Amino acid sequence: MILGSVSLSHRARVNLALLALLAGAFLTGWLAFSYATAPARWALVAHASAGVGILLLLPWKSMIARRGLRRPRPARWASIALGVLVLVSIAGGLLHSSGALVAWGAYTAMELHVGAAIAAVPFAAWHVLARPVRVRPSDLSRRLFLRTGAGLALASVSYAGGELALRASSLPGAGRRFTGSYEVGSFDPDAMPVSSWMFDAVPALDAAAWALGYEALARFDDRVTAMLDCTGGFCSNQEWAGVRVDRLLAGRLAGAQSISVVSATGYARRFPVEEASRLLLALRMGGRPLSAEHGFPARLVAPDRRGFWWVKWVVAVRPEPVPYWWQPPFPLQ
Ligand code: HEM
Ligand code: HEM
Repeated sequence: MILGSVSLSHRARVNLALLALLAGAFLTGWLAFSYATAPARWALVAHASAGVGILLLLPWKSMIARRGLRRPRPARWASIALGVLVLVSIAGGLLHSSGALVAWGAYTAMELHVGAAIAAVPFAAWHVLARPVRVRPSDLSRRLFLRTGAGLALASVSYAGGELALRASSLPGAGRRFTGSYEVGSFDPDAMPVSSWMFDAVPALDAAAWALGYEALARFDDRVTAMLDCTGGFCSNQEWAGVRVDRLLAGRLAGAQSISVVSATGYARRFPVEEASRLLLALRMGGRPLSAEHGFPARLVAPDRRGFWWVKWVVAVRPEPVPYWWQPPFPLQ
């Protein structure tokens, strides 16, 4: 059946492809946020390809949307809001990746990107339920399978072409890390950006009253050079000094499965006990005590883990009998 310029099954295909790409982009975005190592790179290749795929479908989707908007249906504004949020998210992603505008004032393109994507979720769920796609068995043909493959290949090639052009350009994005982060202030603690997972205000802790004993821990000088790679879109390499967590907890790890590191703000993360010797409770950065913003009196240094694992303002480091995955994958506060 042909309606207007696009057949019904054609519209269903475009909408379903959009659904798959949106879900894929959302999941691979969080997957990338879960790693500071190689899986982040592959997640982002898939992520950016899905984003480009959505852009490639725009001409067809706008035909569908224009046709839908001509019908007087309730809550059309919510479909338009979905469109605005998805476009803002993609624009934020491209501003960040290209480096055209990574931050303005206290806000970053990455925050805009992820914020708009999260805000789009309820609208997307509503949209899919309120505008159901009718799929007929004949829609799910071998041809569809081949077209899907060709579409994904086209999106990946477009992304790869864009990335090569970016590398050849003088835009800052050419030099970003494989996690998408920009290196800032390495080995210069004063120039290292300050950030927190969400809304933690900087607490002023008194060294003399600190639960872990400042004098005693300041005598340790275990050192590690490690890159803090923040999900906010920057990374910074520093020399950290303090006490290795396996030394801090010597004799107390028997029977423990995880180590819980708790901040004065209530923020906490849990680590596998096998990682104890790689974790450092740092009191100094670049040879100087930490500033309040960077976690005074002490912050955790968790090499090869994203910044949200590097708990600041630590007030407790506790061996616990529960496995490390007994926590939300991303902090909820
Ligand atoms: C990038 C994401 C999407 C945006 C921005 C978007 C936007 C829109 C807009 C503005 C309309 C017209 C207004 C309306 O009917 O409320 C519309 C219609 C529609 N959308 Fe979407 N949409 C998106 C994804 C999807 C997905 C994933 C599906 C289903 C799997 C879908 C299915 C439909 C259907 C069935 C219609 C009605 C078309 C008609 O009445 O002829 N859309 N969309
Ligand atoms: C509606 C959902 C989303 C869409 C359509 C989307 C799309 C995009 C696009 C088009 C880019 C630019 C890629 C490039 O050209 O290099 C990008 C970058 C990025 N996105 Fe998303 N994204 C979405 C959600 C998310 C979420 C939820 C996260 C994290 C939790 C995320 C994390 C990232 C990161 C880290 C980058 C930077 C990649 C780099 O610079 O190489 N995205 N995204």
